Amino acid sequence: MKLLVTSALPYANGEIHLGHLAGAYLPADIYVKYHRLKGTDVIFICGSDEHGVPITIAAQRAGISPKELVDYYHPLIKQSFEKFGIEFDNYSRTSLSLHYQTVQNFFLQIYRRGFITPKTTSQLYCPRCKMFLADRYVEGACPSCGNNEARGDQCEQCGKWLEPFELIDPRCKICGMTPERRETVHWFFRLSQFETNLRTWLASKTHWKPNVMRFCEGWLKRGLVDRPITRDLSWGVPVPLPEAKGKVFYVWFDAPIGYISATQDWAESLGKPDLWKDYWFNPQTKLVHFIGKDNIVFHAIVWPAMLMAHDEFILPSEIPANEFLNLEGAKLSTSRNRAIWLSDYLSQYPPDPLRYALAINLPENRDVDFTWADFHSRNNNELADILGNFINRVAVFIKRYYCGKIPQLTGTDPDSENVIKMAQEIVLRIEGLIEGFQIKDAAREMMNLAAIGNRYFDHSAPWRTFSADRAQCDRTMAVCARLISMLEIITYPFLPFTSRKIAKMLHLGKRSWHDALNPVVPSELGETEILFQKLPEEIIIQERSKLESGSDNNVKNKKEPSMISIEEFKKIDLRVALVKSAERIPGTSKLLKLIIDLGKEERQIVAGIGEAYSPEAVVGKQVVVVVNLQPATIRGVESFGMLLAAVDGKQVALIRPDQDVTPGTTVT
Ligand code: 2FM
Ligand code: ZN
Repeated sequence: MKLLVTSALPYANGEIHLGHLAGAYLPADIYVKYHRLKGTDVIFICGSDEHGVPITIAAQRAGISPKELVDYYHPLIKQSFEKFGIEFDNYSRTSLSLHYQTVQNFFLQIYRRGFITPKTTSQLYCPRCKMFLADRYVEGACPSCGNNEARGDQCEQCGKWLEPFELIDPRCKICGMTPERRETVHWFFRLSQFETNLRTWLASKTHWKPNVMRFCEGWLKRGLVDRPITRDLSWGVPVPLPEAKGKVFYVWFDAPIGYISATQDWAESLGKPDLWKDYWFNPQTKLVHFIGKDNIVFHAIVWPAMLMAHDEFILPSEIPANEFLNLEGAKLSTSRNRAIWLSDYLSQYPPDPLRYALAINLPENRDVDFTWADFHSRNNNELADILGNFINRVAVFIKRYYCGKIPQLTGTDPDSENVIKMAQEIVLRIEGLIEGFQIKDAAREMMNLAAIGNRYFDHSAPWRTFSADRAQCDRTMAVCARLISMLEIITYPFLPFTSRKIAKMLHLGKRSWHDALNPVVPSELGETEILFQKLPEEIIIQERSKLESGSDNNVKNKKEPSMISIEEFKKIDLRVALVKSAERIPGTSKLLKLIIDLGKEERQIVAGIGEAYSPEAVVGKQVVVVVNLQPATIRGVESFGMLLAAVDGKQVALIRPDQDVTPGTTVT
């Protein structure tokens, strides 16, 4: 069997956040890592989705071209995945010319087979912006649920898939104007032709998750209608027909074909340009699409119909779609910047604790809530206190009592036999669970093995048997070492960074999943290290308040890569202040405590200019200060503002008005 695993191609209009990870990326990576260990012929394919209105709107807001936007985000997204241990065989992008060719050829084939028809349609057109308002360029009230912020392609509130002209009281997303109707030709994919085939195909997927099945049944019940797959936009894959000049494909037509082009791109990069065919043309290949629930219709209805129309490629075998991840009891929202961005997380914490906290609470069957309190407790009470503690106490004991030499297993006793049997059963259960896409329960079982190890260690009390019954103590430690050897293998899909540290401890070469049932144990311990650092409780409050306020850290991830709007700039209250007094903060060379006069009030601020300026040198000077910054305590001294200075390497220069003004004057 061959396995071709994909994760939904993320739009390259922003960074990756926790919702993405829990939906389509982490479960897929765990599934693939497990299969790699098993020796399955598996490839894991993904890439950036670089077309469509989500990209053009973000680019327009940032004042840059769509190409500049995707060139900015593609490498950032790729890097974040790598740092988090998500290992694609290829992370491609849909702006490659290879992708354009593949999409155009795909289209031409279904066109030739008679599944495409042109139709003159009446679309919404904004006379002020001089453009057709496709998809998200138009907003209005949903005809189905009344939500006033439904978009031209979909209502996020009720999930209804919409055409722009169905919206009630539509308005242009760019300028707010009421659009008019204009005629334009579009090419339609004859989805309605596939209703019967889809019904039969879906009926064979009896083992699919109920959430996916329910969704598909709902769609088929309402009946399938033909869908326009072209748009009047300048950014996208051009439609390869002479009469379709100026038209590009709808992003949801080109994106899934990205799974094929990214596999072709992978084969080319290996110097084996035909290797992709071994997967896409091979009926023995199991094609697995990991997605979030908002993508179900495209993957389980439209994409299989496109593949049926094309008639050469395999169809998806599995679509393990996940539900949504909420944050601290409310919906995640990138537009309101209520999100936890992966790059921010990684700038503060190691990847494995988040991999674990997400894996053990995946939204597999229902929406779930991510909380920092839960993250903190998973890290401290489970990773550190159960898994880390078991491995650490065994290593410390073997080092202290056995000079690092691991006793070999000789003889047996009921307790030891029992614990090994339980551990083997856990390995088998994890196999079944991962293969059935129950990743969350598999993560629980992994931790269970460490918990069993701790109980066995406690119960066997080797610190007592070392002198009272050495053979018994040897056996306890040999069994514990065996459990660690098993843990090295079974933690790998979930906690790859930790697993590698355990492997260093055990000095073992490459092993396979099957070795976990009967693991090799080396004769000596290698380098040991603490696997998990406990986190202070304060992080819960800190992280929560960052989330609620859309803090500095998060703001940089808003969907504008380098630009801020004038409204954002205006939020910063800059004032001229007169320095009344200054003194060094004891024990620091950099920090000065200043009292500044702002006209109507005096304030204390801490400034990091102590190496460049003596206290005397700043007293009596006018400076520029941010006065609406949240207060902070620096080295025990409260600071109610921030002084502006230009910093060039070691050189620090205060920013000052070039003539004196009244203290408190606004800087604009
Ligand atoms: O919803 C999204 O983020 C889309 N970019 C997913 C595309 S999946 C696939 F079809 F490429
Ligand atoms: Zn407009």
